[in-house]
Amino acid sequence: MHRTHTCGELRESHIGTTVTLSGWVQKRRDFGAMTFIDLRDRYGLTQLSFNEELDKDLNERARSLGREYVVKVYGKVIERSNKNDKMPTGDIEIQVTAIEVLNEALTPPFTIEDETDGGEEIRLKYRYLDLRRNPIQEKLILRSKLNKAVRDYLNDADFIDVETPYLIKSTPEGARDFVVPSRLNEGQYYALPQSPQTFKQLLMVSGFDKYYQIVKCFRDEDFRADRQPEFTQIDCEMSFVERDDVLDTFEGMIRSVFKQVKDIDLGDIPKLTYDEAMRRFGSDKPDMRFGMELIDLDEVAKGNGFGVFDNADSVVAINVTGGNSYTRKELDAFTNWVKRPQIGALGLIYCRVNADGTYKSSVDKFFDQDKLKSWAETCGSQADDLILVLSGNTEKVRKQMNELRLHVGELRGLRPRDKFSACWVVDFPLVEYDEESDRWHAMHHPFTSPIPADRAKMKTDPSSVKANAYDMAINGMEVGGGSIRIHDKELQKRMFDLLGFTPEEAQEQFGFLLNAFEYGAPPHGGIAFGLDRLSGILAGTDSIRDVIAFPKNNMGRDIMIDAPAPLNADQKRELGY
Ligand code: AMO
Repeated sequence: MHRTHTCGELRESHIGTTVTLSGWVQKRRDFGAMTFIDLRDRYGLTQLSFNEELDKDLNERARSLGREYVVKVYGKVIERSNKNDKMPTGDIEIQVTAIEVLNEALTPPFTIEDETDGGEEIRLKYRYLDLRRNPIQEKLILRSKLNKAVRDYLNDADFIDVETPYLIKSTPEGARDFVVPSRLNEGQYYALPQSPQTFKQLLMVSGFDKYYQIVKCFRDEDFRADRQPEFTQIDCEMSFVERDDVLDTFEGMIRSVFKQVKDIDLGDIPKLTYDEAMRRFGSDKPDMRFGMELIDLDEVAKGNGFGVFDNADSVVAINVTGGNSYTRKELDAFTNWVKRPQIGALGLIYCRVNADGTYKSSVDKFFDQDKLKSWAETCGSQADDLILVLSGNTEKVRKQMNELRLHVGELRGLRPRDKFSACWVVDFPLVEYDEESDRWHAMHHPFTSPIPADRAKMKTDPSSVKANAYDMAINGMEVGGGSIRIHDKELQKRMFDLLGFTPEEAQEQFGFLLNAFEYGAPPHGGIAFGLDRLSGILAGTDSIRDVIAFPKNNMGRDIMIDAPAPLNADQKRELGY
């Protein structure tokens, strides 16, 4: 007989019925004449009870079951004498009358509990056991729900799901490619797609109008907690649209996802220009869960004989509400924190706003009480606040202040994992100058269009040209990005000129796309979201590894299957090595 119920299903109302359950032995407790076992499947835990007085042999057998044995039991649902209100099934237990061992199990190398004793390496090596743990299962179930919510929304909006190839030629997303040697074409290589970018644009030329795909992408990048060498995108493209059509459609998708998966109403998603985001937050993916915005202190800080400020391009402050309670030692720790090479500030200046209306700063020698008062006024500080100040090159100091803002925000509990705040960042620069290669690079990719008003400046002042490109950030993480594409030949040629491609190089790399554009390309644009990052945010975890069933470690290795690995001699010979 198959199982009649799952291990998470039985309640008081089932008392008296006979049931069959199957699952894994989570825990066994022996009490003289009684034995208790917690039986687990993905739906929950159910307590099994065995009583020597009722069946001596059965009780003996129960005691021989080890952790993680797979068993099937038959018995009666009875009321528990010792109810456990922390367990959904805690009102009942199964008085077992027959037991079948479906499989034995070695003792697992770490405990299969919510809080396990296993370190990350061992858990990744035995990932199939780690995946038995509730916290991980919950995250993958959430990811599955997210997947469904995305598909439901896009299918309802008439998007068509089209698959694109994995064995392709280099794509223009700007990371390193993973390559695959071709046996039939010795000495030649496929590249794995960094995204389906060029294919989705070709699908627009084909008339598909609204495309989506939940698709694996491959990028040989350096490791970070929010990056994996293979990751999943929700990749989308639309024809005959302008920027706000795309933003409205995908704002709708993200709001629908949060509603479906978390029952949260995200509300309207604000739009910030790139310049505004950099000025207010020092980041193109601002964490909008809290304020503590960057404040321009130039006017009140410069011109007082303090060289560090006077010689800086920018003096930037944040106001920490209630931050005057930090001790001197804690303030020193902030200074050391910003001086670390990852942040790279030369120092940190503070000003305490005391409750008695006085100020105490680390630069009292240069700034009297009146001057410090004008800082506090500029910062909108209240009694017991703390002002933190950095100065230097504008771009650098904003980035450093962004890091400090996030750090202080974290310490002060302003970035809770169960609060969500999204924003759009629009009008990115079209290109950025790369000192090393001494040329302009596309910020997004070479098919991103400039905003119409800026086209004339492409030749004369490239750095000031804004792109018709947009990102979405949630809780300080970039979750998606896209653009309105170039669909006109002349403009594409100008873009390639700016990026330093000769017509021959452009033809060689993207000839198939440029040729397709000769046959009637509609105006089009799109976006791609990182499914792993969205899942991570919804699941409240900082590492996307937690929401990927079989992730790579920080060296890009799968330590469970031990990949990558050398090829054997036969494989090499076939490939002509
Ligand atoms: P982009 O390169 O911005 O755009 O990627 C889109 C989104 O994919 C996610 N992402 C990643 N997630 C995990 N690991 C990685 N290594 C990784 N790299 C990117 C991010 C990011 O916002 N073709 C364009 C989209 C377009 O223009 O339509 C593209 O790929 O969440």
